[in-house]
Amino acid sequence: MGRFVGVGLIGHGFMGRAHSLAWRNITLFTDSPLTPVLKAVAGRSEDALRGFAARFGFERYYTDYRLMIKDPGIDIIDNVTPNYMHAEPTIEAMEAGKHVIVEKPMAMNSREAYEMVRVAERTGVINMVAHNYRFVPAIVLARQLIGSGSLGRIYHFRALYLQQSLANPEAPMTWRLRREYAGYGTIADLGSHVIDLARYLIGEVISVNGTLYTFNRFRVNQATGVREEVNVDEGFTAILRFENGAFGLIEASKLATGHYNSLIIEVNGSEGSIRFDLERINELEVHLAKDGELSGFRRILVTQRTHPYLRFWWPPGHVLGWEHTFTHEVYHFLTRLAEGKDVAPEAANFRDGLRVMRIIEAIAESSERGTWVSVTD
Ligand SMILES: NC(=O)c1ccc[n+]([C@@H]2O[C@H](COP(=O)([O-])OP(=O)(O)OC[C@H]3O[C@@H](n4cnc5c(N)ncnc54)[C@H](O)[C@@H]3O)[C@@H](O)[C@H]2O)c1
Repeated sequence: MGRFVGVGLIGHGFMGRAHSLAWRNITLFTDSPLTPVLKAVAGRSEDALRGFAARFGFERYYTDYRLMIKDPGIDIIDNVTPNYMHAEPTIEAMEAGKHVIVEKPMAMNSREAYEMVRVAERTGVINMVAHNYRFVPAIVLARQLIGSGSLGRIYHFRALYLQQSLANPEAPMTWRLRREYAGYGTIADLGSHVIDLARYLIGEVISVNGTLYTFNRFRVNQATGVREEVNVDEGFTAILRFENGAFGLIEASKLATGHYNSLIIEVNGSEGSIRFDLERINELEVHLAKDGELSGFRRILVTQRTHPYLRFWWPPGHVLGWEHTFTHEVYHFLTRLAEGKDVAPEAANFRDGLRVMRIIEAIAESSERGTWVSVTD
């Protein structure tokens, strides 16, 4: 066991549970140079916090996240709140000298994200945006294949992120459907993952042409019974140009009936292709032209000890799940923290998060203007 580092979590909803499980797994499964200690969790409801802290093993809780940031026993602030709460607490944490993890999308807009980058670079703290799909072993293997040139020159990146959660017009209003809490809609929620993976696998995106859409304009707020306007997108489609000449086609929608959480990726190069589907998270399909008459997509079960992060887990064929990506991500963060090094390029740092926000904004601008838009720095 390495040096102890105190962790403070802001937010204890869906991602609060996923990240807490990851922090706990570090000591149980990995060879992390640092040992995380779950010091405190912050939120608004004392009852909910008490239960959450007891369940996940946090030493204490705060109903005011500002007091938690001042806690000298805490080295890392892990911010898993809704998007409107990403910038301010994270900036305060960095100013207090804490290392920071923030959930995706990094911020409400690129202005906030830029401010976060500036503070991160001035204070020198380790910073990461929690783009956990970078830590799916099959995706890491895909990146290695592309990086080693096994697929040759890359022509196409294709990705769909599909859910059905908004397909029912009666589905309720949530914070994700209001601009003042979410910034953008599905393009920020699911699209940020796809855009981050495009950059992670292929390279920088330089221009975009896309369309955002909203079919269901009003939804009922369950707490008040009031019909409120949906003032963000329910989905988008875009074509991308990459700096290296490749073309991308990406889509995210929450109106795709039959899809619970489908993230489908395909990359085609001159020497081969890869295909991935999150619903088959342990598999990567690979086609290599060099295999001649035996070429064609074949299924690699990415569970060998030598595959990325598999050394921490079970014997080959004993498959992993979605939740393991968070353990890998936190492990990477702790390793870099111990070395005093940036989390990139394996993980998304705040500069990556800013670039994702700029691409989202460029697609939104393209949708309004009906033209290609260059992505600016
Ligand atoms: N990486 C992924 O796969 C993934 C998946 C889902 C959500 N997310 C991201 O995680 C973030 C949180 O999403 P979620 O699904 O966990 O949301 P959630 O609604 O389930 O939980 C949000 C938590 O934040 C707390 N909170 C809200 N406002 C607060 C405030 N003003 N002060 C203190 N605490 C406050 C809530 O009490 C709750 O505990 C979002 O940015 C979302 O985009 C990422």
